[in-house]
Amino acid sequence: MSRMEDTEVIGRIRDEFPILERKTYGERPLVYLDNTASSQTPREVLAEIDNIYTLHKANVHRGVHLLSREATDLQEASRRSVAEFINAASPEEVIFTRGTTEGINLVASSFGGEFRDGDEIILTVMEHHANIVPWQLLRRHADIRIRVVPITDDGALDLEEYRRLFNPRTRLASFCHVSNVLGTLNPVAEMIAIAHSHGVPVLVDGAQAAPHFPIDVRALDADFYVFSSHKMYGPTGIGVLYGKRDLLEKMPPYQGGGEMIKHVSFEHTTFADLPFKFEAGTPDYVGIGAFPKALDFIRRTGWNTISEQEKMLLEFATEEMERIPGMKIYGTTPDKEAVISFNVGTIHNYDLGLMLDRQGVAVRTGHHCAQPLMERLGVPGTVRASFAVYNTLRDAELFIEALRKAVAMLS
Ligand SMILES: Cc1ncc(COP(=O)(O)O)c(C=O)c1O
Repeated sequence: MSRMEDTEVIGRIRDEFPILERKTYGERPLVYLDNTASSQTPREVLAEIDNIYTLHKANVHRGVHLLSREATDLQEASRRSVAEFINAASPEEVIFTRGTTEGINLVASSFGGEFRDGDEIILTVMEHHANIVPWQLLRRHADIRIRVVPITDDGALDLEEYRRLFNPRTRLASFCHVSNVLGTLNPVAEMIAIAHSHGVPVLVDGAQAAPHFPIDVRALDADFYVFSSHKMYGPTGIGVLYGKRDLLEKMPPYQGGGEMIKHVSFEHTTFADLPFKFEAGTPDYVGIGAFPKALDFIRRTGWNTISEQEKMLLEFATEEMERIPGMKIYGTTPDKEAVISFNVGTIHNYDLGLMLDRQGVAVRTGHHCAQPLMERLGVPGTVRASFAVYNTLRDAELFIEALRKAVAMLS
């Protein structure tokens, strides 16, 4: 695809996102480059949310009445759609959560509840706090040890060190598929195979992978795989925990309440079957019901278009940024997604972000919920620009222009 052609295709895709038409600070066009935090939502998802609220809002799994059955059907259709999207063996292996964070907390609390003093888990230095803190919370009941895989200076995982960290006390390896700071794409299939050769199950944090390329949980042989809808053009407030059936069946419930029981007495409770055992209380059934429309959007757009556009913008922006004196980009592996974290000279990341914002360019600044990684990089924070399929070359040019101006003013 040439740049000219893809601009036309992307122009049509962009038209599906009403928010991208809005202006900031008067007449500045919005250049939205904070897609790693949350991507925007196309009309068909917005319309489906409206449709569910307008016509089908009723609590799921509780009522005999028509609306409740319709709401339930929408939720279960969504589960089937997600299962197909990630190639799960069955919809019962798809647990709806509030997001990636809750998915990891669920596994930590339920699967990790069995960990004992001296047990070890393997994480990497590039993890989001969502994949660090839930494991530390386990220390309330067991003195578990966290082993950390280091990275090389260009932001790749040190696979040899990863191999060396396994020992008979290792209970789980848990790592991101793609880093939310460096953009690094980790060799997760190989990492899972290594863990399995030691009999160790794996959790993959797919928050930054699921929006960018197809996920096949069975081909990867992942034991747990988690991601968030709001980062993949879907509604906010929902996410997915995929787990292999045999593991999920053995795990105790995470939270107690309605929906997750078979029978309750004051003496004893028996629990519902999968997936409901892990879905206590009323879920965000509107968001869940509308999520398939986001998956439809991705399918219709096509992974090739998504990946080609994002890669093109990554290359263009990186090349242009490297021309700016004092530019330091963190994460330069050849295999990276369209996330660019950077600093310029001694300019504070927040000042740079603020100056970009004033010119209509939305980026993220700070530690990106990855303080251990910031420590490894030797900085308190970075500016992060990240692309989605609806971003155009024009967006990238406006970003570079704004960045040059901001750097000139702040230097
Ligand atoms: C790699 C990674 N893991 C976990 C999360 C947490 O996702 P959520 O806030 O949707 O639970 C994020 C969000 O930025 C992320 O990038």
